[in-house]
Amino acid sequence: MNREAVIKELAKIDYPGLDKSIVHMKVVKDVLAENGKITVLLSMQNDEAYMEIESAIEDLFGEEITVKRDAPAKKSINYGNTSNPNNRAPYAKRVIAVTSGKGGVGKSTVSVNLSVALAQKGFSVGLLDADVYGPNIPRMVGTAHEKLRWNERDKIVPSENFGIKIMSVGLTTPSSDTPLVWRSSVAVSALIQFLEDVDWGELDFLVIDMPPGTGDIQLTMAQELPITAGVIVTTPQPVALDDVSRAIMMFKDIKVPIGGLVENMSYFIAPDTKKRYDIFGEGGGEKTATRYSIPFLGKIPLDMQIREFSDNGTPPVAMGDELQKEYYKEIAENLLREIGHPA
Ligand SMILES: Nc1ncnc2c1ncn2[C@@H]1O[C@H](COP(=O)(O)OP(=O)(O)OP(=O)(O)O)[C@@H](O)[C@H]1O
Ligand SMILES: [Mg+2]
Repeated sequence: MNREAVIKELAKIDYPGLDKSIVHMKVVKDVLAENGKITVLLSMQNDEAYMEIESAIEDLFGEEITVKRDAPAKKSINYGNTSNPNNRAPYAKRVIAVTSGKGGVGKSTVSVNLSVALAQKGFSVGLLDADVYGPNIPRMVGTAHEKLRWNERDKIVPSENFGIKIMSVGLTTPSSDTPLVWRSSVAVSALIQFLEDVDWGELDFLVIDMPPGTGDIQLTMAQELPITAGVIVTTPQPVALDDVSRAIMMFKDIKVPIGGLVENMSYFIAPDTKKRYDIFGEGGGEKTATRYSIPFLGKIPLDMQIREFSDNGTPPVAMGDELQKEYYKEIAENLLREIGHPA
């Protein structure tokens, strides 16, 4: 079997959990054919995924092949220079993708307040709700009553509130008098279409609230957008941290620069006694950040008012008390520093 034939076979193996092949994802670094022996060199960091891929290759080829791994040495993050993604958002100078391994940890809340905090610093900011499974940004910024509007150039007009522009896939649910925005029913391609069809104007930052997990949407976004930095949100308990580790490893494998980790619902201050309770344990997020050599951007306590403000469409960074504002401002400032864009 020659090198090309081996690569063709390898293209049949998908990266675990995704429907993209290991060849497509550039996990296959090299294929060597010497003296009748074939060696496949994989370049990846995720141990679990490596073991799965290794056994899939062995199943496919049997004895005739050796799988080797060249785990890239940890290197400093090269912001703005990922693999060679397309750029579906040339209107945005920087793209920030807010993700998490697990659902319900506070991605959307962080996305909203981070966006508003950046706007408060004078940046022009667009916030895209890309959570095709549960878009809830419109409620959090008080635009849930709005309908999709088009301008004279047939571009979608984003909503505006709290100094940011907002667009949500949630607004596209077609009713009988609404034309279909998406030419494809596939969520992923619809999202890409959507990225191109919104009239954002020029943006300093496009913040994207991703659906939870490490699936096809995250991968597609990384291929279609030059993501400046991924911001990963987690809660501090071990089960959430296991999932976040997987998210970190996947981003490293697909070469998305990680801007840092935000620990949400870190602790609870009782409103009456002001006593602090570490409900989910302490310091988990910081330890995870250190373990994977990614920046720690800050922590936000579990605060009843944050939930109330968010549900009422009034982001705490704009409408909350000084302390609540400070949590998100600090995260925004740390992120700006990490991406080399001082406030
Ligand atoms: N620090 C906090 N204190 C109190 N409540 C919070 C905090 N952060 C988020 N919440 C609340 O927790 C709930 C989940 O938050 P959010 O919707 O931001 O999570 P998510 O990760 O985007 O969830 P999903 O995976 O469903 O998209 C919301 O009701 C939100 O108001
Ligand atoms: Mg969400």
